[in-house]
Amino acid sequence: MQTVNRIDPLRDAVAALRADGAVALVPTMGALHEGHLTLVRAARRQAAHVVVSIFVNPRQFGPNEDLAAYPRQLAADSALLEAEGVSLLWAPEASAMYPAGYATNISVSGVSEGLCGANRPGHFDGVATVVCKLFNQVRPDLALFGEKDWQQLAVIRRMARDLDLVRPHVDRILGVPTVREADGLAMSSRNAYLTPAEREAAAALPRAMRAAIAAIAGGAAVEAALAGLEQALLGAGFASVDYAQLCDADSLAPLASRGTAPARLLVAARIGKARLIDNMAA
Ligand code: PAF
Repeated sequence: MQTVNRIDPLRDAVAALRADGAVALVPTMGALHEGHLTLVRAARRQAAHVVVSIFVNPRQFGPNEDLAAYPRQLAADSALLEAEGVSLLWAPEASAMYPAGYATNISVSGVSEGLCGANRPGHFDGVATVVCKLFNQVRPDLALFGEKDWQQLAVIRRMARDLDLVRPHVDRILGVPTVREADGLAMSSRNAYLTPAEREAAAALPRAMRAAIAAIAGGAAVEAALAGLEQALLGAGFASVDYAQLCDADSLAPLASRGTAPARLLVAARIGKARLIDNMAA
C-alpha cells in the first residue's frame, strides 16, 4: 500500500492504478472500525484498486464540536488498511486540502437542512465541500459511503447530481448497508461512550424503529407510530429524542403518511454521553 499526502503524487499514483483497472474510493476521517472495513471490503469486490482517504475535515465540525479531540491514529489505521489489501492511502495535510486563501463552500439546500442539519449548522456544507474535492482529486470509478449516515449520503448524491460530478469525476456512488451488532444496534464509534447498562438499553433503538415501521405498514398513523417510538425510547432509558421522522428516502422531505415512493425512518436520540443515529427503509 502506497501512502501519499500531497496532490501531485496522488494524481500520479491514481493514474498508475487506473491503468491497471477500476478504482474505488472510500472517504473516511480515520479512527477506523469494522464499519469502515466493511466499506473497504465492499469496494474490493467492485474494483481492482481501492483508494482510502483519511482526512479529519475541520470544515464539518461546528464551533462547539471538539475537532481537537477527534481520534487520530494514522499508523494503526494504515496497518488495518494494508491488511485489507488497499492499494493507496490518501492522507492529505490540511494545507493540501485547504491551502492559504481557500474560499469556496458547497452548500446543498433542502436535503441538508432538517434532521442532523438542524442540530449541526454548517456540518453538511463541510461534508459536501470535502467530498466534492475528494471526487475531483481521485476521480474514482466508484465511491462508497455507509448508509448509517443516510442524510450524508443523500446530501452527497444531490451534490453530485447538481454539480454534474457523476461520470466525469465519479462514476457511481454506492451506499453500503449498516453493519449491526447481534442485538440490532448499528455499529458506531459512539457506542464506545456507553456504559454496559446504557449499551444494553441502546438496543431499544432498532427495536422501536422496527415496531414503528411495522405499525405504519399495518395502517397506523405516522404521527402516532412516531410518538410510540419516542415513548419506547424514553421508557428504555434514552434521555431525549432529537428527531424521529419518516422521510422521502431521496429528498428527505418529511412524510405525514406512507406513499408509494421509497421512504426512510430516521432517528437521533441521546443516551448517556452518546447521541445515536439510525435509519431504516420504511
Ligand atoms: O463519514 C465521514 O467519515 C465523513 O463525513 C466523510 C464522508 C469522510 C467526509 O469527511
